[in-house]
Amino acid sequence: MPLPKAELHLHIEGTLEPELAFALAARNSVELAHKDTEELRRAYLFEDLQSFLDLYYGLMAVLHTEDDFAELADAYLERAAEQGVRHAEIFFDPQAHTARGVPVGTVIEGLGRALEASEERHGISTRLIMCFLRDESAESALETLHAAKPHLHRITAVGLDSAEAGHPPSKFREVYEAAAALGLRKVAHAGEEGPPEYIREALDILGVERVDHGLRCMEDPELVERLARDRIPLTLCPLSNVRLRAVDILEEHPLPRMIDAGLLCTVNSDDPAYFGGYVGDTFHAVHEALGLGEERLRELARNSFLASFLDDDEERRARLLAEVDAYDFEVRRPD
Ligand code: ADE
Ligand code: ZN
Repeated sequence: MPLPKAELHLHIEGTLEPELAFALAARNSVELAHKDTEELRRAYLFEDLQSFLDLYYGLMAVLHTEDDFAELADAYLERAAEQGVRHAEIFFDPQAHTARGVPVGTVIEGLGRALEASEERHGISTRLIMCFLRDESAESALETLHAAKPHLHRITAVGLDSAEAGHPPSKFREVYEAAAALGLRKVAHAGEEGPPEYIREALDILGVERVDHGLRCMEDPELVERLARDRIPLTLCPLSNVRLRAVDILEEHPLPRMIDAGLLCTVNSDDPAYFGGYVGDTFHAVHEALGLGEERLRELARNSFLASFLDDDEERRARLLAEVDAYDFEVRRPD
């Protein structure tokens, strides 16, 4: 059994493996720009976040029915279970689907069906996080929140993703206020490509509880001190940072310095079908490339449960933390 862990930064659309994409394309009579899975995989060489997003949104054209979304989520959960994931907080991008004529209810109910079976089928508890696309308008985000209202029992939190530069968190103040009034929790991508100031805005203007990525806080010592003092979790995605060129090579990722600075770091996969690894692979990669030893990996796994939205099930959190504490690296490789 691999090290038990929670995944807190995972875009379900980013788990669409080429094989499933082509199977869904055939089922839904969608023509893809690439001729087969190998040609598609060869296109996974990204310059930056935007070049990835162009391909990522394009491939979503194969997702149409509730069954498609359920199958996508179930395939992810099955792989995640093999890598030790015991709890997953899963992002989805409703506007990427509604823009193509897929109703928000189809997306949420399809994902919800897979998620509600997950604990029994895969041993993974789940939460769903609805993200707004920050390169779309604030009005569109508000409309999306409104359209999702009949399905909010399936949603734990709102998030903010897509192209960061030029789209500060402050643009979404109103929709975050509305989400909080509906009882939703709040996270946001900030400081992936955007400046440290966007992390401050996410905290001060949107009132987020966790920062997704937060990598660029390292340019601002005062901000690092604040994040460490206030125990604000960062959901880091080292393999994503390399593939999207936020860092040159994994060996230069600031994760060890971030841990040393007292930041509450977690390690996650972001879009594993595109970035070369699921979260167990990511733990293994940071062990190899950054020399993080077994106790550091255990600490990252503990952090993942501490930073999770398991507040409504403290019993499960305590059980999972105890499993991490009791984990014996001697008998297993540390993934
Ligand atoms: N959507 C999917 N992956 C993303 C990332 N790494 N950053 C912003 N938006 C995303
Ligand atoms: Zn992300």
